[in-house]
Amino acid sequence: MVILQEGQVYKIITDKTQKSMTFYITYVDRLKDEVFVKVFSPFSLYEGFRISTIENKTLKEIIDFEKIKNFYFENIPFSIKNKIGKLLYQKENHPICIVKNKINDFFEKYDKFEFQNPMVSVRNNFDNLLIPQNHPGRKESDTFYSENKFLVLRTHTTAHQTELLKKKITKFIVTGDVYRRDTIDASHFPVFHQVEGVNVLGSVSDKVVIEHLKDTLSGLIKHLFGNDVKYRFIDEYFPFTNPSFEVVVEYHGIEMEVLGSGVIHKDIMKNCGLEGQNGWAFGMGLERLAMIFFDIPDIRYFWSEDPRFLSQFKAGEFTKFQPYSKYPSAIRDISMWITEGFEDNYFFDLVRDLSENLVEEVSLTDSFTNPKTNRSSKTFRIKFRSIDKTLTGEEIDKILNEIKQELINKDYEIR
Ligand code: PHE
Repeated sequence: MVILQEGQVYKIITDKTQKSMTFYITYVDRLKDEVFVKVFSPFSLYEGFRISTIENKTLKEIIDFEKIKNFYFENIPFSIKNKIGKLLYQKENHPICIVKNKINDFFEKYDKFEFQNPMVSVRNNFDNLLIPQNHPGRKESDTFYSENKFLVLRTHTTAHQTELLKKKITKFIVTGDVYRRDTIDASHFPVFHQVEGVNVLGSVSDKVVIEHLKDTLSGLIKHLFGNDVKYRFIDEYFPFTNPSFEVVVEYHGIEMEVLGSGVIHKDIMKNCGLEGQNGWAFGMGLERLAMIFFDIPDIRYFWSEDPRFLSQFKAGEFTKFQPYSKYPSAIRDISMWITEGFEDNYFFDLVRDLSENLVEEVSLTDSFTNPKTNRSSKTFRIKFRSIDKTLTGEEIDKILNEIKQELINKDYEIR
């Protein structure tokens, strides 16, 4: 009989799906003979967990399921957890904060809120915003959940809209870090920053609100990009606004979406005790703006603690980033047999977790199913490049082997 140890990581194979799952013991109350377990593998859900094995012993020999009191699902990897609380948007000489302040200057008369804890209720992040149960943004492969999916790392700053409206706060700006699983490349990072604006204008028509919204956003775009900026509004869809618009800005000949917006859905106003009132909301990401304004070529720089990066920026100033060097890259491929339920995002997460930001880009280069065996294979190409040093072949292969080992631990077969 294995004695479960606190802080130990255990792996089990679920009998239902035959997938592996990792969990660790948070607490063992030996007096009451109770065990507290926490699951942190994103690879499968706790629901399939019945009779399973640890080191070839049935789980029943090890855990008495009646005794598990606090067994909950969470899919937040360590590489994400250690970004929580960094508060880049509050560091006055940091590019993200400089852009934030520039936006706040424009919205001088709006109440400003910064909720430092990004962990919010699923209700505030999704349900209260009329986001349907089957919306892709709710998928475990896209979103970081905790506490048995009661809490979520906010996926947008809109998560704070209804709680403020319910308090009759109706003209405000919210800034914060938001979290979404994503691909790995120069402009995507699973943690980024958003600014949200809301203004309830009173019992006026949609037409009045739309006009006010477009005037305000036009002013904001000019405030940020200059009076000669070329931009346009295009129709969009968001569950929480109707109608909805996106603003597309042309910058150096390239069109880019800079924000989403619209007239706040009537049901939201009603649910917040503001029936008959009408207002608008918008949300915009800060990284993309900062990358343009400061000439920052890779989104990973924002997380750099290298003084050669940080010392280059000063509150209120929009200076161009001077790269200290571009270090060489190295390419490695991993081919693996995948099983049902595999999502590319899980692979990206694993790479992020084990590579400490030494990977610049991951791309899917091949994918096929063997018609005879019906097995599917995927090949991912990993481009290693540090933003602040030259990596040795040894360092790279060490990370590569760790990634492979973790895949093997999760019962994936490397080809
Ligand atoms: N929350 C939306 C997003 O993250 C942006 C948005 C905010 C759209 C407010 C409309 C109104 O993409």
